[in-house]
Amino acid sequence: MNRDALEVIRTRRVVRAMTDEPVPRDQVERILDAAAHAPSAGNRRLQRFVAVDDAATLRVLRMVSPGMLQRPAAAVVICVDVARAAGYGFRETSSGLSIDVGTAAQTMLLAAHALGLGSGPVTSFSRAAVGVVLNLPAGWRPELIVCLGHAAAAQPPPVAPNRRYSWRDLTSWGRLADDDVDDRA
Ligand SMILES: Cc1cc2nc3c(=O)[nH]c(=O)nc-3n(C[C@H](O)[C@H](O)[C@H](O)COP(=O)(O)O)c2cc1C
Repeated sequence: MNRDALEVIRTRRVVRAMTDEPVPRDQVERILDAAAHAPSAGNRRLQRFVAVDDAATLRVLRMVSPGMLQRPAAAVVICVDVARAAGYGFRETSSGLSIDVGTAAQTMLLAAHALGLGSGPVTSFSRAAVGVVLNLPAGWRPELIVCLGHAAAAQPPPVAPNRRYSWRDLTSWGRLADDDVDDRA
């Protein structure tokens, strides 16, 4: 299924209830391929993706991830190669590394939606436990898990506050007037 990009962006929502239907590996690969095209600070590509589609590992991942409300058929753990990052002069806390995780994550969520799959990001998990479960190298820091699956017909209510913001709520044009600064403080 291919949809207009803006329509895909506008209609993506986090899916927190998924069916048992497997996600074919070629679809996961298309999602990973999309993420490899996401922008990256200095084009250093310090994100590392660990894709998981076996039920036993997914079950254990879920056990160490309180924020994983869905039972995904597949998941991609986005890690930062902090050891390699240090070699390029990035500090562990460098914003570029976190932003790279975000660009990859959003690209995966949108690619999944474009393919007709449900997806959801999870950051509430034990990094140490995920490292052990996936046998990650010491220099890789797991940052975000993208859950993938087929959306169930019924979804839990959205996370509060369930407010949709328009771009006008989020945007100012040019230099802010002093009144705007007071209003938005
Ligand atoms: C950095 C980040 C961390 C998130 N962590 C979780 C999480 O651990 N569990 C979860 O169910 N959703 C998580 N979410 C999803 C948000 O709750 C969701 O994007 C937000 O409620 C808006 O819903 P929408 O994406 O469907 O518009 C996370 C989103 C972001 C950007």
